[in-house]
Amino acid sequence: MTARMLRLFPGPPEEIALDGAYLAHRLHERGSAGRPLVYASFVASLDGRIALRDPATGESRLPAGLVSGNDFRLFQELQAQADCFVTHGGYLRDLAAGRLDDVLQVGTQEATRDLARWRADNGLAPQPALVIASASLDFPMPDSPARHGQRVVIATGAAAPAERVAQWRAAGHEVLAVGSGASVEGGPLVDELGRRGLRSIYLLTGPRMLDTMMRGHRLSRLYLTTAHRLLGGESFHSMLAGPELGDAGRLRLCALNYDASAPDGTGQFFAHFEPRPA
Ligand SMILES: NC(=O)c1ccc[n+]([C@@H]2O[C@H](COP(=O)([O-])OP(=O)(O)OC[C@H]3O[C@@H](n4cnc5c(N)ncnc54)[C@H](OP(=O)(O)O)[C@@H]3O)[C@@H](O)[C@H]2O)c1
Repeated sequence: MTARMLRLFPGPPEEIALDGAYLAHRLHERGSAGRPLVYASFVASLDGRIALRDPATGESRLPAGLVSGNDFRLFQELQAQADCFVTHGGYLRDLAAGRLDDVLQVGTQEATRDLARWRADNGLAPQPALVIASASLDFPMPDSPARHGQRVVIATGAAAPAERVAQWRAAGHEVLAVGSGASVEGGPLVDELGRRGLRSIYLLTGPRMLDTMMRGHRLSRLYLTTAHRLLGGESFHSMLAGPELGDAGRLRLCALNYDASAPDGTGQFFAHFEPRPA
């Protein structure tokens, strides 16, 4: 049976199909080369955790009760609308260690062939370009981007280790310095990607990248799934790293949907927000 959810806002409550709900946002048409649309998504518990950290080993993990098939479908619909994914060194290390699944391509599984067709019908390249943000530049390059013909760019700061920059360049990779310290800064990264004609940029990243994008006023839209459970845990990650954000953190609710079925009958909210207009 096709999954349904209840749209609670805007307008009077209405039951809608879950499949296609995010494709209808047409994010690829909302950005321009001068002002790319930058979007991020998170799934969080009611107590604001996006991941738990093992206090003994320091290793982080996504707790099983946070994610659901319906949330993953909507995540893939967001992926389908991207010209470009931004990932990072930490994800590539987790991927190589088998701690996380490979989500660097879209529409490659039988269940998501419709998304590959949707990209073709909407004039998007078969796969988004890939930007890897890293300050350390110490990560393994996965082989899936080359297999799928994805353009890969490494982004770092001007103070990143010079010998590693040289190593990646010698291996044939483009390395961009977009930040004055060791880290990537949101504004310079987005400006550079816009100059390359990328209009919809999906941040498959975490708290640090969200922080720099928010401080730089470069995030256009934030998608948030809230799983209706409390996680607890003494050591955890929330959506944002860094000092208090102040007014740059004010967001306006654009839509709120309620999925009563998933993940285990407790339900979840799907919301998206945009920065408050200046
Ligand atoms: N529930 C969710 O929706 C959700 C979403 C995202 C993440 N998570 C989870 O939350 C935990 C923490 O997320 P995270 O791993 O993304 O943590 P993070 O501390 O934001 O980023 C980790 C790594 O990304 C690179 N990085 C991030 N921002 C950068 C920048 N501005 N410039 C240069 N490099 C940058 C760095 O790599 P280098 O060390 O190579 O320099 C850094 O070590 C993880 O367990 C993750 O799986 C959950």
